[in-house]
Amino acid sequence: MQEKSKKITLFGSTGFVGRQTLEVISHLGLNVIAITANKNVSIIERQIRKFKPKYALMTDERAATELKLKIRDSSTKILCGKDELCNPNLFEESNIIVNSIVGIAGLLPSVCALAAKKTLALANKESLVVAGKILTSLAEKNCAKILPIDSEHSAILQCLNGKFSDKFLKKIILTASGGPFFGKKREELLNVSVAQAMKHPTWSMGNKITIDSATMMNKGFELIEAHWLFNVDVQSIDVLIHRESIIHSLVEFADNSLLANLAVPDMRLPIQYALTYPERYTSLAKNLNLYEINQLTFYKPNSFSLDALNLCKNALISGGSLPVVVNAANEFAVDLFLRNRISFLGIIEVIKFICTAYKNSPINNIDDVLNADDWTKNFANSNLDSFVKYFK
Ligand SMILES: NC(=O)c1ccc[n+]([C@@H]2O[C@H](COP(=O)([O-])OP(=O)(O)OC[C@H]3O[C@@H](n4cnc5c(N)ncnc54)[C@H](OP(=O)(O)O)[C@@H]3O)[C@@H](O)[C@H]2O)c1
Repeated sequence: MQEKSKKITLFGSTGFVGRQTLEVISHLGLNVIAITANKNVSIIERQIRKFKPKYALMTDERAATELKLKIRDSSTKILCGKDELCNPNLFEESNIIVNSIVGIAGLLPSVCALAAKKTLALANKESLVVAGKILTSLAEKNCAKILPIDSEHSAILQCLNGKFSDKFLKKIILTASGGPFFGKKREELLNVSVAQAMKHPTWSMGNKITIDSATMMNKGFELIEAHWLFNVDVQSIDVLIHRESIIHSLVEFADNSLLANLAVPDMRLPIQYALTYPERYTSLAKNLNLYEINQLTFYKPNSFSLDALNLCKNALISGGSLPVVVNAANEFAVDLFLRNRISFLGIIEVIKFICTAYKNSPINNIDDVLNADDWTKNFANSNLDSFVKYFK
């Protein structure tokens, strides 16, 4: 398909990934059919005026009413409320559905994109964490592709030359910057502030993923994501701390040779690869000057990082709805930390507490996922006072 004739629907257009996706769309000259946001009226208004989509959805109803008033002069049709996330108008005309919503709120658009047999360009890793089997089976059944936007998984796909499996693939090595607390011992993290946790060394990202990177839950989620995307056992996925974020991940083959993907840390590269896959075009990213970088460093994850990685590994190995519970508990705990209700170290403790109380059950359909998510939020809310008391 000619690049310029591609039509895109972008879920989460006002976020970090969403805004960078629109930069790439402008650069490539693609068409925007629909954009969505939750509450951010001022950003989506500017996006509507620039990209003139047919549809714009605000999931927050009050924000939708405000937006309708602001763009009375525009031909864009405003949809309103989270029940519209699967409105067929958002999918029918588009070739690629980009999902850059944060959290489990992104699950339904992922399901609906694949059900509509569309290519899903996925930044919302939470979709695969909570419903990996459902989504990958649906993609297979409908001959639809899930193209990762996460830089690590895009790197793996590129190392595999655009293929999702390789019979000679031995291991996936996910790189991680190590976040703002690299090298710190647990005792040194007792009084970490929100501002300190938000200082990521290499990437600018939304609040939740920045905290997930500091706790290493983000890498744990990426491990689950890699398992589903590339059909690789958890034992064959390693995590390597690489401070410079130049190598975006590696694959090791049966003959012990490695292939790596190197580039400056710029999300517009993996976004563009997903939009033009399997082709490559000039991009907005700077070229990588290895003389300037001078050296690349590698470390093993420390014991604090292993806590989060092991939580995710165990959830994946246990299967059933435990990954849903880990994800929901993490969303809940990160929100508490961002509101200064619990400490940084409290995030992992809250997740562990909730997982221990959960009786695992199988996942057969999306309702099972949503029920496990609801159970977690209800249980977490009913224990809120204890969390604030013991994990502050
Ligand atoms: N940032 C990165 O570099 C990066 C890299 C790899 C993967 N990812 C993944 O990409 C996703 C987005 O990350 P981000 O950093 O772009 O997040 P972000 O800046 O917080 O943006 C989130 C987007 O989702 C929308 N949203 C929030 N809650 C929603 C809800 N309940 N229903 C519908 N839409 C909702 C937001 O709308 P409003 O603005 O109106 O609130 C916004 O458009 C996450 O899954 C993250 O893990 C991010």
